Amino acid sequence: MDHDKLLAELNQFLAIPSISTLPAHAQDCRRAAGWLMEQFRALGCPVVELLEGDGHPVVWAESPRIEGKPTVLCYGHYDVQPVDPLDEWVSPPFEPTVRDGKLYARGAVDDKGQVFTLLKAYQSVLGKDGKPPLNVHFIIEGEEECGGRVIFDRLRAEPERTAVDAVIVADMGYYAPGMPAVYTGLRGLCYAEIHVRTLQRDLHSGSYGGVAPNAMETLVRLLADLKSRSGKINIPKLYKAVEPPTKAERKAWKGLPFDEREFLKDEVTGKALVGLKQYSALERTWALPTFEIHGIRGGFTGEGAKTVIPAQAMAKVSLRLVPNQEYEKVGKWLTRAVKDLAPKYAEVEVKLLHGGNPVLCDVSHPAFTVLDEAFEAVAGARTVPVRAGGSIPVVPELQRGGAPVLLTGIGLPDDGLHSPNEKVTVQQLWDGIEVFGKFFTRFAERGAA
Ligand code: BES
Ligand code: MN
Ligand code: MN
Repeated sequence: MDHDKLLAELNQFLAIPSISTLPAHAQDCRRAAGWLMEQFRALGCPVVELLEGDGHPVVWAESPRIEGKPTVLCYGHYDVQPVDPLDEWVSPPFEPTVRDGKLYARGAVDDKGQVFTLLKAYQSVLGKDGKPPLNVHFIIEGEEECGGRVIFDRLRAEPERTAVDAVIVADMGYYAPGMPAVYTGLRGLCYAEIHVRTLQRDLHSGSYGGVAPNAMETLVRLLADLKSRSGKINIPKLYKAVEPPTKAERKAWKGLPFDEREFLKDEVTGKALVGLKQYSALERTWALPTFEIHGIRGGFTGEGAKTVIPAQAMAKVSLRLVPNQEYEKVGKWLTRAVKDLAPKYAEVEVKLLHGGNPVLCDVSHPAFTVLDEAFEAVAGARTVPVRAGGSIPVVPELQRGGAPVLLTGIGLPDDGLHSPNEKVTVQQLWDGIEVFGKFFTRFAERGAA
Protein backbone atom coordinates (compact mmCIF):
# COMPACT_ATOMS: atom_id res chain seq x y z
CA MET A 1 0.00 0.00 0.00
CA ASP A 2 1.06 3.56 -0.70
CA HIS A 3 2.31 4.93 2.62
CA ASP A 4 1.80 8.60 1.76
CA LYS A 5 -1.78 7.91 0.79
CA LEU A 6 -2.36 5.93 3.99
CA LEU A 7 -0.96 8.74 6.11
CA ALA A 8 -3.13 11.29 4.31
CA GLU A 9 -6.21 9.18 5.10
CA LEU A 10 -5.27 8.67 8.74
CA ASN A 11 -4.61 12.39 9.07
CA GLN A 12 -8.23 13.15 8.12
CA PHE A 13 -9.39 10.95 11.00
CA LEU A 14 -6.85 12.40 13.46
CA ALA A 15 -7.80 15.97 12.54
CA ILE A 16 -11.29 15.52 14.01
CA PRO A 17 -11.21 16.68 17.66
CA SER A 18 -13.45 13.88 19.00
CA ILE A 19 -12.90 14.59 22.71
CA SER A 20 -15.69 12.57 24.27
CA THR A 21 -15.63 14.02 27.75
CA LEU A 22 -16.16 17.66 26.64
CA PRO A 23 -19.80 18.40 25.70
CA ALA A 24 -18.61 21.09 23.24
CA HIS A 25 -17.11 18.32 21.08
CA ALA A 26 -20.20 16.12 20.79
CA GLN A 27 -20.59 17.03 17.11
CA ASP A 28 -16.93 16.19 16.49
CA CYS A 29 -17.52 12.75 17.98
CA ARG A 30 -20.34 12.29 15.48
CA ARG A 31 -18.07 13.44 12.67
CA ALA A 32 -15.44 10.86 13.66
CA ALA A 33 -18.14 8.18 13.69
CA GLY A 34 -19.32 9.41 10.27
CA TRP A 35 -15.79 9.25 8.89
CA LEU A 36 -15.56 5.60 9.96
CA MET A 37 -18.93 4.74 8.45
CA GLU A 38 -17.80 6.19 5.14
CA GLN A 39 -14.67 4.02 5.26
CA PHE A 40 -16.62 0.86 5.96
CA ARG A 41 -19.04 1.64 3.15
CA ALA A 42 -16.15 2.30 0.77
CA LEU A 43 -14.72 -1.10 1.72
CA GLY A 44 -17.99 -2.73 0.67
CA CYS A 45 -19.38 -3.65 4.09
CA PRO A 46 -23.07 -4.47 3.54
CA VAL A 47 -23.92 -3.64 7.16
CA VAL A 48 -22.81 -0.24 8.49
CA GLU A 49 -24.80 1.10 11.42
CA LEU A 50 -24.73 3.74 14.11
CA LEU A 51 -25.78 2.23 17.41
CA GLU A 52 -27.37 5.09 19.30
CA GLY A 53 -27.84 5.45 23.02
CA ASP A 54 -27.57 8.11 25.66
CA GLY A 55 -24.25 9.53 24.48
CA HIS A 56 -21.84 9.24 21.55
CA PRO A 57 -22.80 6.53 19.06
CA VAL A 58 -21.06 3.22 18.42
CA VAL A 59 -20.09 2.37 14.83
CA TRP A 60 -20.94 -1.20 13.84
CA ALA A 61 -19.92 -2.75 10.51
CA GLU A 62 -20.00 -6.24 9.03
CA SER A 63 -18.09 -7.68 6.12
CA PRO A 64 -19.97 -9.61 3.42
CA ARG A 65 -21.09 -12.93 4.92
CA ILE A 66 -18.66 -15.82 4.17
CA GLU A 67 -20.41 -19.10 4.96
CA GLY A 68 -18.46 -21.73 6.89
CA LYS A 69 -15.75 -19.32 7.95
CA PRO A 70 -15.04 -17.97 11.44
CA THR A 71 -15.98 -14.48 12.60
CA VAL A 72 -13.57 -12.02 14.19
CA LEU A 73 -14.92 -9.00 16.06
CA CYS A 74 -12.59 -5.98 16.03
CA TYR A 75 -12.90 -3.43 18.85
CA GLY A 76 -11.49 0.07 19.06
CA HIS A 77 -12.52 3.61 20.02
CA TYR A 78 -12.72 6.79 17.97
CA ASP A 79 -12.87 9.17 20.94
CA VAL A 80 -9.80 10.83 22.43
CA GLN A 81 -8.69 12.50 25.64
CA PRO A 82 -8.60 16.29 26.17
CA VAL A 83 -5.43 18.01 24.98
CA ASP A 84 -4.47 20.30 27.84
CA PRO A 85 -1.85 21.62 28.55
CA LEU A 86 -2.04 22.88 24.98
CA ASP A 87 1.14 25.01 25.11
CA GLU A 88 3.27 21.90 25.63
CA TRP A 89 2.43 20.47 22.20
CA VAL A 90 5.23 20.99 19.69
CA SER A 91 2.68 20.78 16.85
CA PRO A 92 -1.07 21.31 17.46
CA PRO A 93 -2.85 18.14 18.65
CA PHE A 94 -5.31 18.04 15.75
CA GLU A 95 -2.78 18.92 13.03
CA PRO A 96 -1.06 15.54 12.63
CA THR A 97 2.65 16.02 11.96
CA VAL A 98 5.43 13.54 11.21
CA ARG A 99 8.79 14.23 12.85
CA ASP A 100 11.61 11.74 12.79
CA GLY A 101 9.43 8.77 11.76
CA LYS A 102 6.80 9.50 14.39
CA LEU A 103 3.30 10.80 13.82
CA TYR A 104 2.26 13.31 16.49
CA ALA A 105 -1.43 13.95 17.19
CA ARG A 106 -4.01 13.36 19.89
CA GLY A 107 -5.34 9.85 19.21
CA ALA A 108 -2.30 8.88 17.09
CA VAL A 109 -1.95 5.68 19.10
CA ASP A 110 -4.95 5.85 21.49
CA ASP A 111 -6.84 4.74 19.58
CA LYS A 112 -7.47 6.17 16.10
CA GLY A 113 -4.14 5.02 14.68
CA GLN A 114 -4.82 1.50 15.88
CA VAL A 115 -8.41 1.48 14.58
CA PHE A 116 -6.90 2.53 11.25
CA THR A 117 -4.56 -0.49 11.26
CA LEU A 118 -7.57 -2.81 11.68
CA LEU A 119 -9.42 -1.08 8.87
CA LYS A 120 -6.48 -1.24 6.48
CA ALA A 121 -5.65 -4.81 7.49
CA TYR A 122 -9.20 -5.71 6.54
CA GLN A 123 -8.84 -3.88 3.21
CA SER A 124 -5.57 -5.72 2.55
CA VAL A 125 -7.22 -9.16 2.71
CA LEU A 126 -10.14 -8.38 0.42
CA GLY A 127 -10.13 -10.47 -2.75
CA LYS A 128 -10.74 -9.19 -6.28
CA ASP A 129 -14.43 -9.91 -5.69
CA GLY A 130 -14.34 -7.58 -2.66
CA LYS A 131 -14.81 -10.49 -0.27
CA PRO A 132 -12.64 -11.21 2.79
CA PRO A 133 -11.44 -14.75 3.64
CA LEU A 134 -13.51 -14.77 6.84
CA ASN A 135 -16.22 -12.76 8.56
CA VAL A 136 -15.01 -9.55 10.14
CA HIS A 137 -17.22 -7.38 12.34
CA PHE A 138 -16.21 -4.00 13.71
CA ILE A 139 -17.41 -2.30 16.88
CA ILE A 140 -15.83 1.13 17.34
CA GLU A 141 -17.10 3.16 20.28
CA GLY A 142 -16.96 6.84 21.11
CA GLU A 143 -17.05 6.88 24.90
CA GLU A 144 -14.12 4.76 25.99
CA GLU A 145 -12.25 7.75 27.39
CA CYS A 146 -15.19 9.23 29.30
CA GLY A 147 -16.79 6.21 30.88
CA GLY A 148 -19.96 6.24 28.75
CA ARG A 149 -22.44 3.38 28.82
CA VAL A 150 -23.70 3.24 25.22
CA ILE A 151 -21.61 0.27 24.07
CA PHE A 152 -21.95 -1.52 27.38
CA ASP A 153 -25.75 -1.31 27.49
CA ARG A 154 -26.01 -2.30 23.82
CA LEU A 155 -23.91 -5.42 24.26
CA ARG A 156 -25.88 -6.33 27.39
CA ALA A 157 -29.09 -6.11 25.39
CA GLU A 158 -27.70 -7.74 22.23
CA PRO A 159 -25.24 -10.42 23.34
CA GLU A 160 -25.35 -12.07 19.90
CA ARG A 161 -22.94 -9.36 18.74
CA THR A 162 -20.19 -10.98 20.83
CA ALA A 163 -21.07 -14.56 19.82
CA VAL A 164 -18.00 -14.77 17.57
CA ASP A 165 -14.84 -16.88 17.27
CA ALA A 166 -12.36 -14.27 18.43
CA VAL A 167 -12.30 -10.64 19.54
CA ILE A 168 -9.35 -8.38 18.77
CA VAL A 169 -8.93 -5.31 20.95
CA ALA A 170 -6.31 -3.09 19.33
CA ASP A 171 -5.91 -0.50 22.06
CA MET A 172 -2.68 -1.56 23.71
CA GLY A 173 1.01 -1.63 23.01
CA TYR A 174 4.24 -3.59 22.83
CA TYR A 175 5.92 -4.36 26.14
CA ALA A 176 9.11 -2.81 24.71
CA PRO A 177 10.35 -1.96 21.21
CA GLY A 178 10.54 -5.27 19.31
CA MET A 179 8.49 -7.06 21.99
CA PRO A 180 4.81 -7.36 21.05
CA ALA A 181 2.45 -8.27 23.88
CA VAL A 182 -0.86 -9.84 24.76
CA TYR A 183 -2.52 -8.81 27.97
CA THR A 184 -3.66 -11.27 30.66
CA GLY A 185 -5.21 -8.53 32.75
CA LEU A 186 -6.51 -4.98 32.83
CA ARG A 187 -7.24 -2.95 35.91
CA GLY A 188 -10.72 -1.64 36.63
CA LEU A 189 -11.61 1.90 37.62
CA CYS A 190 -13.84 3.69 40.09
CA TYR A 191 -13.97 7.44 39.39
CA ALA A 192 -15.51 9.87 41.88
CA GLU A 193 -15.82 13.47 43.03
CA ILE A 194 -15.52 14.32 46.71
CA HIS A 195 -17.40 17.51 47.67
CA VAL A 196 -16.80 19.26 50.98
CA ARG A 197 -18.69 22.21 52.50
CA THR A 198 -17.83 23.72 55.86
CA LEU A 199 -19.44 27.21 55.70
CA GLN A 200 -22.37 28.88 54.01
CA ARG A 201 -20.07 31.43 52.34
CA ASP A 202 -16.39 32.31 51.96
CA LEU A 203 -15.02 34.39 54.85
CA HIS A 204 -12.28 36.94 55.55
CA SER A 205 -9.28 34.90 56.66
CA GLY A 206 -8.19 37.55 59.14
CA SER A 207 -11.49 38.12 60.90
CA TYR A 208 -12.29 34.42 61.10
CA GLY A 209 -8.94 32.67 60.65
CA GLY A 210 -8.27 30.55 63.72
CA VAL A 211 -11.88 29.60 64.28
CA ALA A 212 -13.70 29.03 60.97
CA PRO A 213 -13.40 25.53 59.43
CA ASN A 214 -11.66 25.76 56.05
CA ALA A 215 -13.21 23.53 53.38
CA MET A 216 -10.02 23.24 51.37
CA GLU A 217 -8.02 22.22 54.43
CA THR A 218 -10.69 19.73 55.40
CA LEU A 219 -10.62 18.24 51.92
CA VAL A 220 -6.84 17.91 51.67
CA ARG A 221 -6.64 16.33 55.13
CA LEU A 222 -9.31 13.88 54.10
CA LEU A 223 -7.44 13.05 50.90
CA ALA A 224 -4.21 12.62 52.83
CA ASP A 225 -5.95 10.28 55.27
CA LEU A 226 -7.22 8.14 52.39
CA LYS A 227 -3.66 7.12 51.49
CA SER A 228 -0.71 6.78 53.87
CA ARG A 229 2.76 8.01 52.98
CA SER A 230 3.78 4.37 52.47
CA GLY A 231 1.29 4.17 49.59
CA LYS A 232 -1.28 2.11 51.46
CA ILE A 233 -4.88 3.05 50.72
CA ASN A 234 -6.96 3.39 53.86
CA ILE A 235 -10.25 1.98 52.67
CA PRO A 236 -11.39 -0.95 54.79
CA LYS A 237 -11.83 -4.27 52.89
CA LEU A 238 -9.99 -2.97 49.80
CA TYR A 239 -6.89 -5.17 50.04
CA LYS A 240 -8.79 -8.22 51.28
CA ALA A 241 -10.49 -8.39 47.90
CA VAL A 242 -7.22 -8.39 45.93
CA GLU A 243 -6.64 -11.57 43.98
CA PRO A 244 -2.86 -11.94 43.72
CA PRO A 245 -1.26 -12.74 40.34
CA THR A 246 -0.75 -16.43 39.61
CA LYS A 247 2.62 -18.11 40.07
CA ALA A 248 2.94 -18.42 36.30
CA GLU A 249 2.35 -14.67 35.90
CA ARG A 250 4.86 -13.76 38.61
CA LYS A 251 7.42 -16.00 36.97
CA ALA A 252 6.80 -14.53 33.51
CA TRP A 253 7.12 -10.98 34.93
CA LYS A 254 10.45 -11.80 36.57
CA GLY A 255 11.75 -12.81 33.15
CA LEU A 256 10.77 -9.50 31.50
CA PRO A 257 13.46 -6.94 30.84
CA PHE A 258 12.74 -4.15 33.28
CA ASP A 259 15.20 -1.50 34.37
CA GLU A 260 13.66 0.57 37.13
CA ARG A 261 16.08 3.46 36.60
CA GLU A 262 15.38 3.69 32.87
CA PHE A 263 11.65 3.38 33.50
CA LEU A 264 11.88 6.24 36.00
CA LYS A 265 13.92 8.43 33.69
CA ASP A 266 12.34 7.75 30.27
CA GLU A 267 8.69 7.10 31.06
CA VAL A 268 7.83 8.34 34.52
CA THR A 269 10.12 11.41 34.16
CA GLY A 270 10.22 12.02 37.92
CA LYS A 271 12.93 11.75 40.56
CA ALA A 272 11.71 8.66 42.39
CA LEU A 273 9.11 5.93 42.23
CA VAL A 274 6.56 5.87 45.01
CA GLY A 275 4.20 3.24 46.35
CA LEU A 276 4.26 0.11 48.48
CA LYS A 277 7.95 -0.78 48.69
CA GLN A 278 7.38 -4.49 49.37
CA TYR A 279 6.01 -4.99 45.84
CA SER A 280 7.88 -4.64 42.56
CA ALA A 281 7.07 -1.71 40.27
CA LEU A 282 5.39 -4.06 37.77
CA GLU A 283 3.25 -5.55 40.50
CA ARG A 284 2.29 -2.09 41.73
CA THR A 285 1.12 -1.00 38.29
CA TRP A 286 -0.48 -4.27 37.17
CA ALA A 287 -1.76 -6.15 40.19
CA LEU A 288 -2.47 -3.69 42.99
CA PRO A 289 -5.15 -1.05 43.46
CA THR A 290 -4.31 2.65 43.40
CA PHE A 291 -5.82 5.87 44.68
CA GLU A 292 -5.03 9.00 42.65
CA ILE A 293 -6.09 12.62 42.99
CA HIS A 294 -6.72 14.10 39.53
CA GLY A 295 -7.57 17.64 40.47
CA ILE A 296 -8.79 19.88 43.26
CA ARG A 297 -11.08 22.86 42.92
CA GLY A 298 -11.96 25.50 45.46
CA GLY A 299 -10.87 28.73 47.08
CA PHE A 300 -8.87 31.31 45.20
CA THR A 301 -6.42 30.29 42.47
CA GLY A 302 -6.47 33.42 40.29
CA GLU A 303 -3.70 35.95 39.76
CA GLY A 304 -2.50 37.78 42.84
CA ALA A 305 -3.56 37.22 46.42
CA LYS A 306 -6.97 37.00 48.03
CA THR A 307 -7.26 36.36 51.76
CA VAL A 308 -10.22 34.06 52.01
CA ILE A 309 -11.38 30.97 53.87
CA PRO A 310 -13.12 28.80 51.28
CA ALA A 311 -16.56 27.49 52.16
CA GLN A 312 -16.40 24.62 49.72
CA ALA A 313 -13.92 22.43 47.86
CA MET A 314 -14.01 19.49 45.51
CA ALA A 315 -11.56 16.80 44.40
CA LYS A 316 -11.68 14.42 41.46
CA VAL A 317 -10.22 11.06 42.42
CA SER A 318 -10.11 7.51 41.17
CA LEU A 319 -9.12 4.06 42.25
CA ARG A 320 -7.63 1.51 39.86
CA LEU A 321 -8.98 -1.92 40.69
CA VAL A 322 -7.55 -5.38 40.31
CA PRO A 323 -9.25 -8.74 39.80
CA ASN A 324 -11.97 -9.44 42.32
CA GLN A 325 -12.60 -5.77 43.11
CA GLU A 326 -15.92 -4.68 41.60
CA TYR A 327 -16.27 -0.98 41.03
CA GLU A 328 -19.78 -0.70 42.44
CA LYS A 329 -18.70 -2.26 45.71
CA VAL A 330 -15.51 -0.21 45.86
CA GLY A 331 -17.56 2.94 45.25
CA LYS A 332 -19.60 2.13 48.35
CA TRP A 333 -16.46 1.44 50.38
CA LEU A 334 -14.93 4.74 49.28
CA THR A 335 -18.10 6.63 50.22
CA ARG A 336 -18.14 4.94 53.64
CA ALA A 337 -14.44 5.70 54.22
CA VAL A 338 -14.88 9.38 53.29
CA LYS A 339 -17.85 9.77 55.63
CA ASP A 340 -15.97 8.04 58.44
CA LEU A 341 -12.84 10.17 57.99
CA ALA A 342 -14.62 13.53 57.64
CA PRO A 343 -14.92 15.78 60.70
CA LYS A 344 -18.44 16.29 62.05
CA TYR A 345 -18.48 19.97 61.05
CA ALA A 346 -18.09 19.19 57.34
CA GLU A 347 -20.79 18.22 54.89
CA VAL A 348 -19.24 15.71 52.52
CA GLU A 349 -20.66 14.07 49.46
CA VAL A 350 -19.13 11.43 47.19
CA LYS A 351 -20.44 11.43 43.61
CA LEU A 352 -19.53 8.33 41.66
CA LEU A 353 -18.96 9.38 38.04
CA HIS A 354 -18.17 6.11 36.31
CA GLY A 355 -16.39 2.83 36.59
CA GLY A 356 -15.29 -0.37 34.95
CA ASN A 357 -14.48 -3.78 36.29
CA PRO A 358 -11.03 -5.37 36.16
CA VAL A 359 -10.35 -8.12 33.64
CA LEU A 360 -8.43 -11.36 33.54
CA CYS A 361 -7.78 -12.92 30.13
CA ASP A 362 -6.84 -16.50 29.43
CA VAL A 363 -4.28 -16.43 26.61
CA SER A 364 -4.12 -20.17 25.91
CA HIS A 365 -6.73 -20.32 23.11
CA PRO A 366 -5.30 -21.30 19.68
CA ALA A 367 -6.20 -17.82 18.37
CA PHE A 368 -3.24 -16.53 20.38
CA THR A 369 -0.92 -18.86 18.48
CA VAL A 370 -2.24 -17.43 15.23
CA LEU A 371 -1.53 -13.92 16.52
CA ASP A 372 1.95 -15.00 17.65
CA GLU A 373 2.72 -16.34 14.19
CA ALA A 374 1.55 -13.11 12.62
CA PHE A 375 3.76 -11.00 14.90
CA GLU A 376 6.67 -13.34 14.36
CA ALA A 377 6.37 -13.08 10.57
CA VAL A 378 6.16 -9.27 10.62
CA ALA A 379 8.03 -8.05 13.71
CA GLY A 380 10.30 -11.04 14.24
CA ALA A 381 9.00 -11.87 17.71
CA ARG A 382 6.10 -13.69 19.33
CA THR A 383 4.02 -11.96 22.00
CA VAL A 384 4.89 -11.85 25.68
CA PRO A 385 2.04 -12.16 28.21
CA VAL A 386 1.85 -9.08 30.42
CA ARG A 387 -0.83 -7.04 32.17
CA ALA A 388 -1.79 -3.40 31.80
CA GLY A 389 -2.36 -0.87 34.51
CA GLY A 390 -4.97 0.90 32.37
CA SER A 391 -8.62 0.05 31.88
CA ILE A 392 -11.05 -0.63 29.05
CA PRO A 393 -14.47 -0.82 30.68
CA VAL A 394 -16.24 -2.72 27.89
CA VAL A 395 -13.88 -5.73 27.91
CA PRO A 396 -15.87 -7.79 30.46
CA GLU A 397 -18.85 -7.41 28.14
CA LEU A 398 -16.77 -8.49 25.11
CA GLN A 399 -15.78 -11.62 27.06
CA ARG A 400 -19.35 -12.65 27.80
CA GLY A 401 -19.83 -14.40 24.46
CA GLY A 402 -17.09 -16.84 25.50
CA ALA A 403 -14.77 -16.02 22.58
CA PRO A 404 -11.07 -15.42 23.31
CA VAL A 405 -10.36 -11.69 23.66
CA LEU A 406 -6.97 -10.74 22.25
CA LEU A 407 -5.85 -7.57 23.99
CA THR A 408 -2.97 -6.34 21.89
CA GLY A 409 -1.73 -3.46 19.76
CA ILE A 410 1.15 -1.61 18.22
CA GLY A 411 1.85 1.18 20.70
CA LEU A 412 5.26 1.71 22.26
CA PRO A 413 5.91 2.51 25.93
CA ASP A 414 6.95 6.12 25.27
CA ASP A 415 3.94 7.04 23.08
CA GLY A 416 2.58 9.38 25.73
CA LEU A 417 -1.07 8.33 25.80
CA HIS A 418 -3.20 11.09 27.35
CA SER A 419 -0.10 13.35 27.49
CA PRO A 420 0.93 16.30 25.35
CA ASN A 421 2.77 15.21 22.14
CA GLU A 422 1.08 11.81 21.94
CA LYS A 423 2.63 9.92 19.01
CA VAL A 424 2.70 6.70 17.11
CA THR A 425 5.81 5.37 15.41
CA VAL A 426 4.92 5.26 11.72
CA GLN A 427 6.63 1.90 11.14
CA GLN A 428 4.50 0.42 13.94
CA LEU A 429 1.40 1.40 11.92
CA TRP A 430 2.63 -0.40 8.82
CA ASP A 431 3.61 -3.44 10.90
CA GLY A 432 0.20 -3.41 12.58
CA ILE A 433 -1.60 -3.46 9.24
CA GLU A 434 0.46 -6.47 8.19
CA VAL A 435 0.11 -8.29 11.51
CA PHE A 436 -3.67 -7.97 11.62
CA GLY A 437 -3.89 -8.84 7.92
CA LYS A 438 -1.90 -12.02 8.51
CA PHE A 439 -4.03 -12.77 11.54
CA PHE A 440 -7.16 -12.55 9.37
CA THR A 441 -5.85 -14.83 6.61
CA ARG A 442 -4.41 -17.41 8.99
CA PHE A 443 -7.39 -17.41 11.31
CA ALA A 444 -9.62 -17.92 8.27
CA GLU A 445 -7.75 -21.16 7.56
CA ARG A 446 -7.24 -22.35 11.10
CA GLY A 447 -9.89 -20.74 13.28
CA ALA A 448 -12.99 -22.54 14.46
CA ALA A 449 -15.96 -22.09 12.14
N1 BES B 1 -6.01 2.45 25.70
C1 BES B 1 -6.27 2.85 27.05
C2 BES B 1 -6.15 1.71 28.02
C3 BES B 1 -4.74 1.26 28.23
C4 BES B 1 -3.84 2.10 28.86
C5 BES B 1 -4.34 0.04 27.82
C6 BES B 1 -2.54 1.69 29.05
C7 BES B 1 -3.05 -0.36 28.00
C8 BES B 1 -2.14 0.47 28.62
C9 BES B 1 -7.68 3.42 27.13
O1 BES B 1 -7.97 4.28 26.07
C10 BES B 1 -7.81 4.26 28.36
O2 BES B 1 -7.12 5.23 28.48
N2 BES B 1 -8.75 3.92 29.21
C11 BES B 1 -9.14 4.75 30.30
C12 BES B 1 -10.48 4.26 30.73
C13 BES B 1 -11.22 5.14 31.69
C14 BES B 1 -11.36 6.54 31.24
C15 BES B 1 -12.56 4.54 32.00
C16 BES B 1 -8.13 4.65 31.40
O3 BES B 1 -7.49 3.60 31.60
O4 BES B 1 -7.94 5.66 32.11
MN1 MN C 1 -7.48 3.51 24.29
MN1 MN D 1 -6.99 6.25 26.53
